[in-house]
Amino acid sequence: MFKQTMQAIQVHEYGDVDQLKLAVVARPEPQAGEVLVRVHAAGVNPIDWKVRQGLRKHLVPMQFPYIPGMEIAGVVEGVGPDVTTLQIEQAVYGRSTTGAYAEYAVAAERMLALKPQSLSFDEAASIPVGATTAWQGLFESGKLEKGQRVVIVGAAGGVGLFAVQLASQRGIHVIATASGANVDFVCSLGAETIIDYTTTSLANVVHDVDCVFDTVGSTLETSAQVLKRGGILVALSGQPLIERAKERGIQVVASHTQIESEMLKNIARLIDEGHLKTAIKDTFPLSQASQAHVLGQQGHGRGRIVLHIA
Ligand SMILES: NC(=O)c1ccc[n+]([C@@H]2O[C@H](COP(=O)([O-])OP(=O)(O)OC[C@H]3O[C@@H](n4cnc5c(N)ncnc54)[C@H](OP(=O)(O)O)[C@@H]3O)[C@@H](O)[C@H]2O)c1
Repeated sequence: MFKQTMQAIQVHEYGDVDQLKLAVVARPEPQAGEVLVRVHAAGVNPIDWKVRQGLRKHLVPMQFPYIPGMEIAGVVEGVGPDVTTLQIEQAVYGRSTTGAYAEYAVAAERMLALKPQSLSFDEAASIPVGATTAWQGLFESGKLEKGQRVVIVGAAGGVGLFAVQLASQRGIHVIATASGANVDFVCSLGAETIIDYTTTSLANVVHDVDCVFDTVGSTLETSAQVLKRGGILVALSGQPLIERAKERGIQVVASHTQIESEMLKNIARLIDEGHLKTAIKDTFPLSQASQAHVLGQQGHGRGRIVLHIA
């Protein structure tokens, strides 16, 4: 017999971290094409605190109360009708539709894949958004190819660490920005040139690159300056400089991540073959989701924050 209730973090209105409240709520039920996952770990992404603060309400208004989070790793405990590729007891990772900060979550089958076998659940939960965003941003939005040069802004973060690895493995020359404490880490991921943005302005030392993959947003103006004419600025956040881009002859693409099984399968294979690694910045229990958000909002450090749930 399944438990009909579960512990989860709920948000009842937009606001500060004190809106993240532990509660006992009804367990979600999978519908057609969906599975029920016993969540072992959830990734804590910047979008989670931006949504909680109401910064995205003009784009995606929330229905209250809601359970935050999208990245999960766990075990399938139930399947809805028309699920064809996943079975009960399989370990999976991917994106939840009902919220990740909970003991159980429902996810569409098409947004899950088998968890990388070589990783713990905590490690697996740190991957779906960061690795997918990096892949789609570099190769689909940025159209990068072997032999080109890319600048990765925010290279130690939960997205940037995958971007450095994926680009350098494809034979792309990676120039990365990070604060001094993260320079060695970013070097270990495969970056050829690392610029400590706290001491050196990118625009003073880099020119005419093919693409800038900017994960920070407040840096977009500088990122635009280092591109060659015809170059592509992939912006994950911030206000893309559409008018300025025309004057400079560059293209600005606001990248929006789509999590899907095929990509997650490819990523799991790269991880299990030892080509791709992740990093966890810190781990918190579900009851300390607010501390996780406080740390995340600082916007510095290596890798993803994870909630360890089971
Ligand atoms: N559009 C989409 O679909 C999409 C998808 C995923 C993420 N995002 C967005 O992408 C952004 C990054 O996400 P994330 O998960 O990688 O965040 P994160 O894990 O918090 O990492 C942020 C990184 O930014 C670096 N940083 C902070 N200020 C900087 C500056 N002035 N110059 C250079 N680097 C700086 C930090 O490096 P140091 O510690 O070295 O300072 C840190 O490693 C967030 O805004 C997120 O919402 C968008």
